[in-house]
Amino acid sequence: MKYDDQIIDEVRDRNDIVDVIGSYVSLKSRGRNSYFGLCPFHNEKSPSFHVDRERQMYYCFGCHQGGNVYTFLMEYNRLTFPEAVQELAQRAGISLPEQEQTPEERQMADARTVLKEMNKQAAIYFHYLLKSQRGEKALAYLRDRGLTDETIRHFGLGYADIYRDDLYQYLKAKGYSDQQMKDSSLVTIDSQRGSFDKFFNRVMFPIMDTRQRVIGFGGRVMGEGQPKYLNSRETLLFDKGRNLYGLNYARRSRENSLILCEGYMDVISLHQAGFTNAVAPLGTAFTETQALLLKRYTGEVILSFDSDGAGRDAALRALPILRENGIRARVLSMTPYKDPDELIKAEGPEEYRKRIGAAEPGRLFEIRILHAGYKQSDPDSRTDFIHAVSKYLSRIEDPIERDNYKATVSNKYIIPRKDLDRLVDRYGLSYQMEQANEQYRRKPETEERKKEKQDIRKNQAQSLLLTWLTEEPDLYETIASILSADDFLGPLYHSVALMLFKQLDKGEKVNPARIIDQFSDLEDRERTARIFNAHLQYAPSQEEKSKALTDIVRKIKLASIEEEMTHTSDILRWQELLGMKADIQKLKLTLGPEKGGDH
Ligand code: UTP
Ligand code: MN
Repeated sequence: MKYDDQIIDEVRDRNDIVDVIGSYVSLKSRGRNSYFGLCPFHNEKSPSFHVDRERQMYYCFGCHQGGNVYTFLMEYNRLTFPEAVQELAQRAGISLPEQEQTPEERQMADARTVLKEMNKQAAIYFHYLLKSQRGEKALAYLRDRGLTDETIRHFGLGYADIYRDDLYQYLKAKGYSDQQMKDSSLVTIDSQRGSFDKFFNRVMFPIMDTRQRVIGFGGRVMGEGQPKYLNSRETLLFDKGRNLYGLNYARRSRENSLILCEGYMDVISLHQAGFTNAVAPLGTAFTETQALLLKRYTGEVILSFDSDGAGRDAALRALPILRENGIRARVLSMTPYKDPDELIKAEGPEEYRKRIGAAEPGRLFEIRILHAGYKQSDPDSRTDFIHAVSKYLSRIEDPIERDNYKATVSNKYIIPRKDLDRLVDRYGLSYQMEQANEQYRRKPETEERKKEKQDIRKNQAQSLLLTWLTEEPDLYETIASILSADDFLGPLYHSVALMLFKQLDKGEKVNPARIIDQFSDLEDRERTARIFNAHLQYAPSQEEKSKALTDIVRKIKLASIEEEMTHTSDILRWQELLGMKADIQKLKLTLGPEKGGDH
């Protein structure tokens, strides 16, 4: 970067935090300028994510993430600070001056820009080849698999030719350097063997991010051959665990759920059949980050994996990940077909839609697989099954959900309800004890947390006063002669006080969102947001308010004096401090009559 402060302020001021966050998270108003919603940064069932229009800040009372409109975009969309500024400037129609960057930042930004452009060029070239005479066979292959020309265009499919350095030569002619091509993972450069394309004789699937930019490729070998699919390795742009194939289109579908399938071809044939809400991981197992990505768009996912053992295992792995991230999942049965493509070809889209409706809740799927692992006609094996399923049920946290599943399992697998109740309770209890033991074993960590909590309590007066001052800047007049920023002992509090007092001295409107931007460290920003979100108990009368203020100021000042007394070796100063201490103990602040009565 750096954009100067004026621009940063302007862009922030012109983007109301409630509007910006409201476009990602559904927010409900609770009182003037105060909004709540489900926190996008952790999984929760009741809203503890708070957005404050007055202070232009957000804060989650559950996971303690907080900040201003910039930090929100940085966290939510994984942007750098300058990227967040650019995005919001664009949103507000503000044109930014040419940015000054550090050489490293410039290099990084340039490298990304080059990569994006090169990927785009490659995708265009592959698509051109597919449509040219050289791509005849590949095009025939795709048509043979039932893809229409419209679908081929929509997904930008292409063809990488059989020559070993076809793309290399093409990109070289476009002016790209060997190093740049190497960084794109499109070309392999080897000191002995020279330069050759990573993909040749393959049908090419460009992978796009949600902003519709090509970030990598998958390539399927023509006919038989190994590996069947080859994927770009990770680059500056391409992070496999953070993207999903097809999400660029699926996010705009108006369905209530998203379909998660196995691969490129599944997604494409589903979209062609009208299921434009299908996505797939990128040649790796489904990740937690991908679950969080899906959660931005939906609360329900339909798993549509292949009906073979690998597909079943993939579903078993994905289910807990989805669940732990607050997404309901159901599993679609493909039998007797292998995958969505086959099913739709054989039975048509209507049948697939029916199967979505009939998809099995994730937990029942898991229990069914568990059940299949025991021989039910063998009494010992059946006993083991009943124990195993009880243990499984005992891990369901929500008591209502647990009860519902107990009822279903009892019916479906003919297990007397009272036996199930007894066993589930027993396993639940021993599980809780296990967990308590686990916590006991991790004692050093809880000690540490205790200290942290003490620290927060120690600094609470500081944080309360800072909060209070942002809400009622008029109070500053009363305390300015007693306290200075140096009296704030916590290092972060000290910096915040410095900035706040500077704003107050100048008679500027206090702006917490602006103070947050002064910290470059994301963690500091978050902690600052936390300071400004300390709970404030409004004292009803001016008299009580005066008492509360006296109390807080006294606490801060005394701590500061005592701190200095333990460190000074100057006896005169020590005596002076002693006198100050006596004065402060007698301190009594009186606030004038309330103005206007805004609170
Ligand atoms: P599949 O082998 O099920 O692919 O792999 P598919 O979609 O049925 O392929 P077709 O129909 O034979 O063309 C599913 C996904 O697993 C990854 C790819 O992302 C693929 O889309 N995969 C598979 C690889 O990354 N490498 C491989 O060698 C095979
Ligand atoms: Mn498949």
